[in-house]
Amino acid sequence: MPETRLKVNIFGDPVLRKKAKRVKEVTAEHRKILSLMAESMYEHSGIGLAAPQVGISARLIVVDIGEGLYKLINPKIVRRQGSQAIQEGCLSVPGVCIKVRRSKQVWVEAFDENNYALKIEAKDLFACVIQHEIDHLEGRLIVDYASLLEKLRIKRKLGASKTGAKACKLQL
Ligand code: NI
Repeated sequence: MPETRLKVNIFGDPVLRKKAKRVKEVTAEHRKILSLMAESMYEHSGIGLAAPQVGISARLIVVDIGEGLYKLINPKIVRRQGSQAIQEGCLSVPGVCIKVRRSKQVWVEAFDENNYALKIEAKDLFACVIQHEIDHLEGRLIVDYASLLEKLRIKRKLGASKTGAKACKLQL
């Protein structure tokens, strides 16, 4: 169990490609991880973070688009509607910004840190961030949405950029 600050894993780390494990029951350890994740997200000026990004293969995400902090366990999209495309950055893919088309509105079921079932209706930016973080739990990254040409451009950029390089306003 991490006691101190969490390090954000960068593209190329295999943990980012693993399907994260379902949490059977939320424990004090999960609560600790979630609070460290939130700390890490704020420290990097992010608006979302998923556990695999800090090297933990568990279905835990934190989101704060400026309207309060959400800590979600085992989040699952049960309904979706509409479509939108937003320029997304990712703390694990520094220096890269990709326009990703996702559902405009999603209905999510999850558990909170006290093991209570939650239902969330999210739209616009909030929906975008939740879908981005759930992608992390599936081992999916924004680069997977890039065109072939964009992928080549990203490859060059990744070699040149360092951790924390921000090409994109939204860091998720
Ligand atoms: Ni991300």
